[in-house]
Amino acid sequence: MDYSRQLTLHDFTEDHQKKLASSSVLIVGCGGVGCLIALYLAGAGVKNLSLLDMDVVSESNLHRQIVYTIAEKGQKKATLLAEKVKALNPSVNATAILTPIFSDNAVDLFLPHDVVIDASDNVYTRYLCSDAAVIAGHKRGRPVPLISAASVGYAMSIESVCLSSSQPCYRCRHSRPPRRGRERTATTTGVLGPVSGIAGTCAACECIKLLCGDLGGDLREKRLTIDVHSWTCIMAKVSGTQKAGCICEKMWSGEVDEPVEEVGYRNQPPFTDKDEKQEKDETDEKE
Ligand SMILES: *[C@@H]1O[C@H](CO)[C@@H](O)[C@H](O)[C@H]1NC(C)=O
Repeated sequence: MDYSRQLTLHDFTEDHQKKLASSSVLIVGCGGVGCLIALYLAGAGVKNLSLLDMDVVSESNLHRQIVYTIAEKGQKKATLLAEKVKALNPSVNATAILTPIFSDNAVDLFLPHDVVIDASDNVYTRYLCSDAAVIAGHKRGRPVPLISAASVGYAMSIESVCLSSSQPCYRCRHSRPPRRGRERTATTTGVLGPVSGIAGTCAACECIKLLCGDLGGDLREKRLTIDVHSWTCIMAKVSGTQKAGCICEKMWSGEVDEPVEEVGYRNQPPFTDKDEKQEKDETDEKE
């Protein structure tokens, strides 16, 4: 692979390229956000990409999951994405992970990765990723930076958390998830396809920056929100310190060594498109 256009950049050095070539990134969710992240990171020369998704390609998602095709309907997204990544850059080691992510396997999944990107479409996974990043960081004695990227409706937002034992986790900033069934998702609220693309593209930039370490500033004390409905772009300054009493304190100290099972989400697999459809159908019936 020829990285000359990237190496020509001011500030971007051979050392940065070497860092990418020895990095491992886990992308949680291979939907509209995750599929772009995977391809951009592969193009940039990130060595190991783990692509986690249990779902299959469905037609109603193709408006944003643009790397898949109608002909691939019904096939596993993570498997397809790994193939597309390898086709783009054969030197990338792409691994599809087809298991759902739960509180009992998340920490082990996170441990071997330098950065984890939450590109999932549900709020349960967002909090789970934060807990798992903190616990895995404590276990291995080196933080697992987590990039949290989300898109719904006409807006997307992105921030980086769990960067060290003194910095905030996702919970520090978003104290609790909404009640199950009350969250806004692509199925209930809709999403404009390219908005997922913005989230994925921004997450790929942030990931490259975190892996390189000194390529401008990162999003550890900033949250970027872009709303294309009103064309509002907000770079909000957010706290760089942990929230007093947040459970991540006990996770960093090892006192709590399992992710929190969210009330209302207990023993529930992450929300899948199928669940959402079912719930939506049930709601539609009631109305
Ligand atoms: C490729 O990725 C898998 C899964 O992350 C890992 O076990 C394996 O060691 C990697 N191979 C190389 C050559 O880095």
